[in-house]
Amino acid sequence: MATVSFCSQKGGVSKSSLARALAVEAARGGLTVKIGDLDVGQGTTVDWHRDRLAAGIEPAVSVQLHKTAKEALRASDGVDLLVLDGPARADKETVEIAKVSDLVALPTGASLDDLRPAVRTANSLTKAGIPAARLLFVLSRIGTDAEADAARAYIKEAGYRVAPGYVPERPAFRAIQNEGRAITEVRYPQLKSAAESVVEALVDAAVGGEESEEGTS
Ligand SMILES: Nc1ncnc2c1ncn2[C@@H]1O[C@H](COP(=O)(O)OP(=O)(O)OP(=O)(O)O)[C@@H](O)[C@H]1O
Ligand SMILES: [Mg+2]
Repeated sequence: MATVSFCSQKGGVSKSSLARALAVEAARGGLTVKIGDLDVGQGTTVDWHRDRLAAGIEPAVSVQLHKTAKEALRASDGVDLLVLDGPARADKETVEIAKVSDLVALPTGASLDDLRPAVRTANSLTKAGIPAARLLFVLSRIGTDAEADAARAYIKEAGYRVAPGYVPERPAFRAIQNEGRAITEVRYPQLKSAAESVVEALVDAAVGGEESEEGTS
């Protein structure tokens, strides 16, 4: 089983949106997928899953609320891909989530208000012994190509990997999730392909994610 987690210090950076999209696309590709919603305070992905089931949208993915990453792992027998949708704020449990993950995705927007806490989270994970090679920044809620380029440069300068592409900031991504669908299921072709290429990069990183412990930390 591969485990991919989505973590951030800041709330609202697209952890849940990307976690759902990764799970849906991996399920579409034939994997048995489960999302562990670790945001016990909000459980937004549990609610989204209920909407998806009620609307009968395929492929179905299973979602379960768990207090800890370890608990999610214990309840995931027979699963090919476990996607952990992290809580709104990074805390001590974030290191525990990262420890059980083959890939830790760190979604961020382009402002310094988003980038600084994201890099701080990455720094605290590497300090706790998580190899930097296991971390992957993901750009989401981005306005322009120039904004994406500047954010990418900032993250690389800090010594971390960034997934290619970005998810633009668009109301359509909210609307589609209101229907119980994932951001890769949006109806506008350009937005769909932008979301799909980011999710593909996550799948690639996750499947090739059995890297050695020789991080750059
Ligand atoms: N690319 C986007 N464009 C526009 N809105 C977006 C985009 N991505 C996510 N959103 C919206 O932003 C809000 C926050 O996204 P999401 O819930 O995925 O973030 P999160 O990091 O999981 O938040 P939390 O920290 O509260 O768990 C949601 O209303 C979501 O629909
Ligand atoms: Mg969330």
